[in-house]
Amino acid sequence: MKPVIAFVLLCSLLVVSSTAEQFDFFYLVQQWPGSFCDTRQGCCFPETGKPAADFGIHGLWPNYAKCHSRSSYDDLTRAALGDVDVVFFLSRRRGKKKCWPEYCDDGNTLSPWEIRDLVASMETSWPTLSCKSSRSFEFWSYEWKKHGTCSNLGQHDYFARALALKAAHNLTAILAAAGIVPSATATYSMTGVSDAIAKGTGFTANLECNRDADGESQLFQVYQCVNRDGTQLIDCPLQMPTKCRGDRVKLPLF
Ligand SMILES: *[C@@H]1O[C@H](CO)[C@@H](O)[C@H](O)[C@H]1NC(C)=O
Repeated sequence: MKPVIAFVLLCSLLVVSSTAEQFDFFYLVQQWPGSFCDTRQGCCFPETGKPAADFGIHGLWPNYAKCHSRSSYDDLTRAALGDVDVVFFLSRRRGKKKCWPEYCDDGNTLSPWEIRDLVASMETSWPTLSCKSSRSFEFWSYEWKKHGTCSNLGQHDYFARALALKAAHNLTAILAAAGIVPSATATYSMTGVSDAIAKGTGFTANLECNRDADGESQLFQVYQCVNRDGTQLIDCPLQMPTKCRGDRVKLPLF
């Protein structure tokens, strides 16, 4: 290869590797705290106290409309640039699918100062229920590092947009308006839940169940789909496996 051509090729690879993260939409994932806690594993409350009986944000996750094979152009670019880890990774994980980008900038750590005006809303709308740490800031930092660094948004915008989307569509109120209220005994049809959310927000969402300690299906997380700017809901371009058993689910008390 002529040196000039090689140089031009290398430059184009460098340009590709430094452009914005390519993803198609976000999932805004909200969890029902009753279903998080009502499992064999249980939950722990954050140091700020027991959260309200309201959906809480889990995260805002960039996602591809189509899974890529592991040897995506992105990885090949990094491999071509001599990223030894990627070459190793590609050889080990050939054939594995990559359905979302993650950990796009490990050096980019969440700063409490950047989000200082959002912390009060985040404590109510985005509380941790994990028993690994009762500090919600650790949950937010993890979400930022894994998903936020791939969002093409700065720290403040990333969290502010997730909060604004949640505030614009109160899932607890939307479900209650359709008669779907937390209960120790009632069960609801999945179609009913799905229709209520579509009617109340204007857009279809994906639903995920988990199991309570008796193995019964309960509504756990709602995945709303969001445009690439993180500003508008869209109809979900993908169906996900719901992990729901049958068509009836519970919405446990919290
Ligand atoms: C959402 O709606 C529920 C039920 O009406 C209400 O209790 C809750 O405070 C609302 N959440 C927010 C953040 O406004």
